[in-house]
Amino acid sequence: TNHFESNLPLKGKRALVSAGPTYEAIDPVRFIGNHSSGKMGYAIAKQLQALGAEVTLVSGPTALNSPSQVNRVDVVSAQQMFEAMDKHFQESDIVVMSAAVADYTPVEVADQKIKKKAEDFSIDLKKTTDILASLGKQKRDNQTLVGFALETNNELAHAKDKLERKNLDFIVLNSMQDKGAGFAHNTNKITVINRSGEVTSYELKSKDEVAKDICNLIIQEQSKS
Ligand code: CTP
Ligand code: CA
Repeated sequence: TNHFESNLPLKGKRALVSAGPTYEAIDPVRFIGNHSSGKMGYAIAKQLQALGAEVTLVSGPTALNSPSQVNRVDVVSAQQMFEAMDKHFQESDIVVMSAAVADYTPVEVADQKIKKKAEDFSIDLKKTTDILASLGKQKRDNQTLVGFALETNNELAHAKDKLERKNLDFIVLNSMQDKGAGFAHNTNKITVINRSGEVTSYELKSKDEVAKDICNLIIQEQSKS
């Protein structure tokens, strides 16, 4: 990158970031959720803002404070997250999907708290909309679209498959190999795969440092367009 260009390389750019888990309601007091803390997405939103971008952060339920000067949109369910991301997609130059979206949601939400009765109980679930795949289908050449992947086996092959299937510019693979990386931790160990199939592995770092690495790749992508 050209360091003489600007110390705010993303000035004039609009960025859209998703973060945190989604909660899928079962009844008025229960939901299906996951352990995403939202820290990675919030760190990316903060860093993109610091680099000059105008940032919208679509956040599932988290315990985090909004980064300053970021437009935060709070959502709960996968469907609400889809609607918010879809609404802001067209106007965005940079889109980072770091939320941990539920893959399935209850077919029906009970109006009243479900009472315990039989020994066995099950809930019918249906697939949620794949938000990232839907954005990938609409993507223009000058938009940078970034996804995340968490895998437990055949990590690279699975992540590469998602990169292609969802039409991403690059995918950030969260390594499960390292203790201290991932959910609820302040550190992360990532591997990035781009459209050309290049694989770059990074050291275990704080999520703020990881966000800087990811933003550097975004700056490179944006300078191409
Ligand atoms: N994602 C999404 N909408 C969904 C599910 C996932 O936008 N309904 C996004 C995630 O935010 C992430 C990427 O897709 O950026 C990959 O998510 P992941 O759970 O690793 O992959 P899936 O496609 O859901 O496949 P699987 O869970 O079976 O591995
Ligand atoms: Ca999934």
